Amino acid sequence: VNIILNGFMATGKTTIGQCLAKRLKLPFVDLDQTIETEQKLTISELFEQYGETAFRKLETEKLNEVLEQNGVIALGGGALTNPENLKKVLQSDNYLIGLYCSMEDIIARTNRDKGIRPLLSDEGDNLKISITNLLEKRRSVYNQCDFQVDTSQYSPEESTEKILQMIRNKQTRIQVPDGYYPIWMGRQLLQNLGELIAARCKGKKIAIITNPVVGGFYLETVEKALQSTEFETKSILIPDGEEGKSLETVNKVYDELTAFKADRSSIILALGGGITGDIAGFAAATYMRGIRFIQIPTTLLAMVDSSVGGKTGVNLPQGKNLVGAFKQPELVVMDLEVLKTLPEREIINGFGEFFKHGLIADAELVRQIVEYPGDLSTLPYTEELEAMLSRSLEVKANIVQRDPFEANERMLLNFGHTLGHAIEKATSYTIAHGEAVLIGMAFAAKLSTIVGKLPIEEYTLIENIYKKYNLPYTLHQFSIHDLINYMQLDKKKNTDEYRWILLRRIGEGYIETFPSLDQITELLHKSGARA
Ligand SMILES: NC(=O)c1ccc[n+]([C@@H]2O[C@H](COP(=O)([O-])OP(=O)(O)OC[C@H]3O[C@@H](n4cnc5c(N)ncnc54)[C@H](O)[C@@H]3O)[C@@H](O)[C@H]2O)c1
Ligand SMILES: [Zn+2]
Repeated sequence: VNIILNGFMATGKTTIGQCLAKRLKLPFVDLDQTIETEQKLTISELFEQYGETAFRKLETEKLNEVLEQNGVIALGGGALTNPENLKKVLQSDNYLIGLYCSMEDIIARTNRDKGIRPLLSDEGDNLKISITNLLEKRRSVYNQCDFQVDTSQYSPEESTEKILQMIRNKQTRIQVPDGYYPIWMGRQLLQNLGELIAARCKGKKIAIITNPVVGGFYLETVEKALQSTEFETKSILIPDGEEGKSLETVNKVYDELTAFKADRSSIILALGGGITGDIAGFAAATYMRGIRFIQIPTTLLAMVDSSVGGKTGVNLPQGKNLVGAFKQPELVVMDLEVLKTLPEREIINGFGEFFKHGLIADAELVRQIVEYPGDLSTLPYTEELEAMLSRSLEVKANIVQRDPFEANERMLLNFGHTLGHAIEKATSYTIAHGEAVLIGMAFAAKLSTIVGKLPIEEYTLIENIYKKYNLPYTLHQFSIHDLINYMQLDKKKNTDEYRWILLRRIGEGYIETFPSLDQITELLHKSGARA
């Protein structure tokens, strides 16, 4: 892991970088200085003699080299204007921190260091204009930072302290079609939410959308945290439960947003489970043709599933999730502490998708689930949770990054869902989605051994996880006739085949096609479903 400081000239990258390196006991590299030493020329001289293009090439080579060692790296102000460099820095575990300061500070520093900053040689008003232009040119790069620190406002020691605080939390970065956004994971993050948000999004008004249950536990903390920084907040309460996931609720949210005089610079924050996230995200995608959106998922399901991938929407009387939009958040904050108040049934519900990610793509996660010493009720309290959760989340993140608009690979996420959906419909949704998926996954695992791919000992290992955690898997209560009917309806209209996601081994899902449902019907019989 590298701690990379990026920012305009004169924002304090070197001073703060040295402070940070000392505190973290890591080596410190100033990229520009390293190049100057090696080339025995100043940056200005390099620009003069070889031109900017040649300098940037040299800079890229050097950057690749220093990224190999772990340390604190201060970058030259333009180093990440090369998209390849930015990509390399953002695609690994590195933290990319933006430093910025006031125009007065930049001018003061630039005047003091006259002559050594090649891209700014003019004086007076011209200097200000050329700084503004350069800043504007680099704005999109600076906006990609995981978080930013205003070094005009703090001393170098204070800025260092802020950065140390941020990087204590685990961060995962999600690539979306127009950039990246960070997911922060840790404990006691709600208390510092204002700072976490301010370090990433500038703005004034934040509308917090939550329901009375989650709001009862956490709204005060969130409001306080936001108001203690620069934000003005308004809380919008929506009903708890799937019935409230409707256009009517979205309408009420629009009413409240206009009453709050929310405009294009305002932010919507979702505080709650998947339902809240879906409604709030849809409101954010559509209000004024889209405003910024922040997710604070509070259920296990929302953390590993619904808050990643950008799908938002509401139900129609005709069916679930029939209206929606893709909307990516600016940032996601997962405070594991909130899982302590989550009812156990909701933990099981989220565990279905949590476990699914291991089965289809991460054998190591499955191993950790096997070795985890507790049961599901203790999960929110244990240290192991963070590591497992971030693995599970990364599976979903990796798949949606490769397939953002649900073309192919996302299909793997349907593991356990073909039968799961049929179970939900056959029971008129009285069985929770996660439970239905758990039952569906056990069945699909067994089917995987029957078609000859999944080794029997791996199936037994999966079965033992179901026993260990007391997860649902029996089919006695369902009628084969109902299940088959609903599976036929679920089939994609334009093929004659039935596609199932099965396992080749633990940690590797694949798509299998069946010409008919005969083999599946037979297995339903054998598994004890009612004739
Ligand atoms: N957008 C997506 O990609 C996606 C993916 C999967 C599911 N979903 C949607 O997500 C929804 C289900 O999400 P869910 O399972 O999180 O349900 P949910 O949002 O209804 O939350 C479950 C229950 O737990 C309560 N709750 C939430 N956090 C709590 C906490 N920390 N402490 C105590 N109680 C808490 C809620 O009030 C609710 O009663 C469905 O509508 C589904 O369609 C969307
Ligand atoms: Zn699901």
